[in-house]
Amino acid sequence: MLRTHTCGELRSGHLGQEVALCGWVDRVRDHKGVIFVDLRDRWGRTQVVVGPDSPAAVLAAARAVRPEWVLRIRGSVGARPAGTTNPKLATGEIEVVCRDLDVLNEAETPVFQPGATELPGEEVRLQHRWIDLRRPAMQDNMFLRSRMVKIMRDHFDALGFIDVETPMLGRSTPEGARDYLVPSRLDHGSFFALPQSPQLYKQLLMMAGFDRYVQVAKCFRDEDLRADRQPEFTQLDVEMSFVEADDVMGVIEGLVQRTAREILGIEVPLPLPRLSWDEAMERFGHDAPDLRYGLEIVDLTAIAGESDFRVFRGAVEGGGRVRGLRVPGAAARFSRKDLDDLTAIAVEGGAKGLVWLKVEADGSFSGPVAKNLVAVADGLTKKLGCAPGDLALIVADSFDVTCKALHMLRKRLGATLGLYDPNAMHFSWVVDFPMFARDSESGGWASMHHPFTAPRPADLHLLQSDPAACRAVAYDLVINGSEAGGGTIRIHDGATQEKVFELLGITPEVARERFGFLLDALRSGAPPHGGIALGIDRWVMLFAKLDSIRDVIAFPKTQKASDLMTGAPSPVETKQLVELGVRVVVPPPKPA
Ligand code: AMO
Ligand code: AMP
Repeated sequence: MLRTHTCGELRSGHLGQEVALCGWVDRVRDHKGVIFVDLRDRWGRTQVVVGPDSPAAVLAAARAVRPEWVLRIRGSVGARPAGTTNPKLATGEIEVVCRDLDVLNEAETPVFQPGATELPGEEVRLQHRWIDLRRPAMQDNMFLRSRMVKIMRDHFDALGFIDVETPMLGRSTPEGARDYLVPSRLDHGSFFALPQSPQLYKQLLMMAGFDRYVQVAKCFRDEDLRADRQPEFTQLDVEMSFVEADDVMGVIEGLVQRTAREILGIEVPLPLPRLSWDEAMERFGHDAPDLRYGLEIVDLTAIAGESDFRVFRGAVEGGGRVRGLRVPGAAARFSRKDLDDLTAIAVEGGAKGLVWLKVEADGSFSGPVAKNLVAVADGLTKKLGCAPGDLALIVADSFDVTCKALHMLRKRLGATLGLYDPNAMHFSWVVDFPMFARDSESGGWASMHHPFTAPRPADLHLLQSDPAACRAVAYDLVINGSEAGGGTIRIHDGATQEKVFELLGITPEVARERFGFLLDALRSGAPPHGGIALGIDRWVMLFAKLDSIRDVIAFPKTQKASDLMTGAPSPVETKQLVELGVRVVVPPPKPA
């Protein structure tokens, strides 16, 4: 036996015991001839002492050790002298008086110390991920992840769900991103697609009669990456038969409550609040609004229509909207430079500018365009609910642009004005999404969620007459302004599915070629069914109060979808390409 205890285990109850510990040297210091080695493993840290009267060989070995060396030490547990106990450390009352020290492995000086308070840039951390993962904070993240996945598995197991693995090598499932493709060696010119989600497989499992399915599923999407998006991520994927939206949401609400209780010790009242998509866009400008704070959007279109201010009139006459935010008591807090920054945010959101108005002590507006708004000042004040000292921010544009710009402003103001407790957790649902949105490239209809989503029964007739007005039985789980999960009730009859394909511009021939198996299965006794997928990486990030999912993934990819540690993706040998029947086309250099 190499060790009797871990480095996080010894307490004053072990005083006098002979023990053996293994671990990494976290820190070593020579204090007037007494050598202190902090030994670290995944369980914690223990102070090991090598006194000046230790055997000469042990003293020499202790003097030689360096950070990150791997040691085995044997000795007896002693009490730390009065005044030297460390209440911050679980093992802080004791130390191990070393009698024997074996160097199990030396280590080159690491690029950075796992215990250092100053971290190098993320690139260095990703290149040397095994060192980064030695840091206690990263270990905590990975243990939290493991605990959360265990809670998820337990929750669904207790409810009678069956865990089924679905293929990684399959056919493209449309979830709206680009596929990662794998060439076939046996059939040159043919490719597998890595799953963007197990969507169709889980629906087929319902048609096969499994009734309640769950899987911790790896998904692959070749899309532009952000702090909350990875090319390879994990879903908790769920599907249920003979259910309505409330049933699926109820199962997830139970999981939310249980996870919050067990991980954070907080009690989440159920049912969770629900907003319709329309309401979310009207009040917050976004389909995953952060409800930890107010700062709601106010519609000013009717009042603005009465003004002769060119910017407002133009928007209203063009069928657009004029909408704004009241920022209570913020007038004095924002300098001209701050307001220019806010204007830049609005412009980044697509707006042509930003009207800002400060409410003076007499209730009048000041600001660059205040004089153009005198006629409607009273109306604006009343509608916004402004009081002296407030700041009003107004955008005039299409509904979509006002949503995007005001959402971005709201987000920035919520953070910079400290409008919410960063430790608060807010869970809610956004429901009744539109079935379709216009595809910006083709101009045709695209699915808002995916093509297998059922329209609300009452909206079925709109599929033909007014697809834009047709709402889906769709629900997204929102945690603190992040989309933490999304699901829908599915279409379970072939005719409706064919109609939706047609609306999406998928001809019957293409539909048969790509989804023939689904259409056949839908005509072979498909039960009503629906489900959801939770973004596990995002759940862990949010529960850990972190800003990046890279910190809760052991080996994540960079924003450019590369793995800095292994160097993937990388070129392959010509022989492999020949075997796969793949030729690499080098794009012509971009003109300078
Ligand atoms: P959706 O595409 O909404 O639905 O994905 C479900 C959840 O997965 C998470 N997620 C991601 N997390 C990290 N990186 C990404 N690139 C990424 N993309 C998505 C989000 C999201 O809410 N098949 C449907 C589910 C269903 O209808 O049952 C689906 O995949 O948290
Ligand atoms: P301009 O005459 O275009 O310089 O705009 C006058 C003021 O209105 C500036 O403060 C702009 O930031 C603002 N502005 C211009 N267009 C818009 C718009 N679409 N919505 C809100 N404010 C705007």
